[in-house]
Amino acid sequence: MRWYRDNGRHDLPWRSTRDPYAVLVSEVMLQQTQVDRVLPYYEAWMKRWPDLRALAPAPVAEVIRAWRGLGYNRRAVNVHRLAVTVVEFHRGTLPVDAKALRGLPGVGEYTAAAVRCFAGEERVVVADTNIARLAARAVLGVSNRRDLRPMDVRGALEGLLPMRGAREHNLALMDLGATVCTARAPKCDVCPLVTMCRWRSAGYVESMRMTALAPKFETTARFARGRIVDALREAPAKAQELREMLPERHHANVEKYLEALAADGMVVEQGGVWRLPE
Ligand code: ADE
Repeated sequence: MRWYRDNGRHDLPWRSTRDPYAVLVSEVMLQQTQVDRVLPYYEAWMKRWPDLRALAPAPVAEVIRAWRGLGYNRRAVNVHRLAVTVVEFHRGTLPVDAKALRGLPGVGEYTAAAVRCFAGEERVVVADTNIARLAARAVLGVSNRRDLRPMDVRGALEGLLPMRGAREHNLALMDLGATVCTARAPKCDVCPLVTMCRWRSAGYVESMRMTALAPKFETTARFARGRIVDALREAPAKAQELREMLPERHHANVEKYLEALAADGMVVEQGGVWRLPE
């Protein structure tokens, strides 16, 4: 905690609020996107839709447009669906209890725990990637959490939870994991846990597990679907026009991508023309 006091990222805007909605928006944005990139999106989003009652009536197309540049557009649609659900069933106030949270669109175990802890100040384990890696190393002595069962990581983190101040504790672990105990080049010389780290005392055993080589992004369906949504943000289009804008390897799959996007509520079709849902 002393390390966190002096080195933590205290000025992040979502850390100065206890509004569950603000925490949820930040956590969803931060799931696959770096902090620096998220900051302007978070500020703009909260200004435009300061609460769930403001967000629920917004056209889905506008929500998808506001997400431009963040990637993984489905996250935007889920936040909007969540707004509609919470306005209908929870009078517009995002609940902070586990049961109610877990039933909501796009809210998985991590997001539920983050809202409960960062907004509700509840004493729960928050196991984001950085926190899990830190626990795997410092407590369990392995370089990589992939070598462990999730319940072992969780158990290690439960053992670290203080009786009071779990929120600050989790934020401290998060910052230590993100800035010092990094995946590729941990800075053990400035780590406050250096004398008690099990990974270090075990001689920094490397993971035996190979990380799968990621396929080139341009070859993935996610890339193609993202480009389709980008195009439809600008204007409605026919499948043929969307096909022509994509690399050839995707041409045979355009209908399949469109059907998948439609099933996720990201696009709609009318008379052969595709567009974002209004
Ligand atoms: N503060 C609270 N949650 C966070 C997250 N997911 N990433 C970075 N900082 C955070």
